Amino acid sequence: MLRELDGNPLSSALPGETVHSIRRRGLQALGSTRPTRAALRYRYQHRDPALAVDRFDATFPSPVGIAAGFDKNAVAIHGLAALGFGSVEIGTVTPDPQNGNPRPRFYRLPADRGVINRVGISSQGADRVRERLDAHGTPDVPIGLNVGKMNPSGEAEALVDYRRVVDRLSPYADYVVVNVSCPNTAEEFDQQSPEHLRGIFETLEAEDDETTPVLVKVDPDTTEDALREVVDVGEECGLDGIIATNTASERPDLASPRRYEWGGLSGKPIEDRSTDVVRTLAEYTDLPIIGVGGVDSAISAYAKIRAGASLVQLYTGFLYEGPVISRQINRGLVTLLERDGFETVEDAIGADLE
Ligand code: FNR
Repeated sequence: MLRELDGNPLSSALPGETVHSIRRRGLQALGSTRPTRAALRYRYQHRDPALAVDRFDATFPSPVGIAAGFDKNAVAIHGLAALGFGSVEIGTVTPDPQNGNPRPRFYRLPADRGVINRVGISSQGADRVRERLDAHGTPDVPIGLNVGKMNPSGEAEALVDYRRVVDRLSPYADYVVVNVSCPNTAEEFDQQSPEHLRGIFETLEAEDDETTPVLVKVDPDTTEDALREVVDVGEECGLDGIIATNTASERPDLASPRRYEWGGLSGKPIEDRSTDVVRTLAEYTDLPIIGVGGVDSAISAYAKIRAGASLVQLYTGFLYEGPVISRQINRGLVTLLERDGFETVEDAIGADLE
């Protein structure tokens, strides 16, 4: 089973989404018993005190986490933690179950080291995810809860949807992320508009001081002005952090035949764009930023950290590199920190900013 995990499934003849679910099931199985988790840790995990980051009232043993979408329904969190990821973001979870878009909806772009997906927001719903978390508990790394709305929900209903998921699942989460940046759902309103964001933040931050930290996830195609507006509204409403970025609608020059499929682009082709968004945000705010987009090596993770990201996440990099990716990045980060004279990751955050 370990060997199966190590294979290179993205070169397989099977559809990309099928390969991904086979691998996730493998991780679910391996994460479900103590001895198999120990075997995963032994083979893949690389811990070093220099890599620990404290944010959102939690300690992340490594800055490298798994991005939302990889484990939408929290089936493989224990396996992912055992691989050495410093956090796992589950979701996007919606209040009730809903299907995403029809298949096929996931395309590999191997020549570009990217993926185009139009999975949309597919979720087993908050109750099913809660049952699973109740039954199996959470691992010893921070868990992010990425929340979304039902497809037909308009602006006002969306606020109710987010609240419903947070009410059911926040006891299991170290932070909550509002996903207003999925590029492949048909929306009749601007989910990133300042008015809508204000409504969301006020709804989720309103309860009391004890609420789980709330973050918002932005789209890489957002203009600099719009990013500053997100920060302004967020700071006014007590937002706790920003995730930059989701998948992109805009297309740079791509070589793969599937480049014309519609959906969100991820992986290498969006790396620089998402790092630019991290930098723009970090120059403008002290809110913690989680950088995501094209991270597949220690160098790419380090670039985001130096641009101002306190933590990083990845999805597409795992599809191309396999489960060794966390160990490769964690080891490589320790070497890069030593090379540059930083004692810890914390010291390197924002090192490239003026
Ligand atoms: C995603 N992503 C995503 N993001 C989110 O907030 N909720 C989600 O449900 C999903 N689903 C999803 C499915 C698939 C197939 C992919 C490839 C991506 C976006 C993901 O979390 C991340 O922001 C981007 O993929 C950019 O990171 P990478 O893939 O370049 O490391």
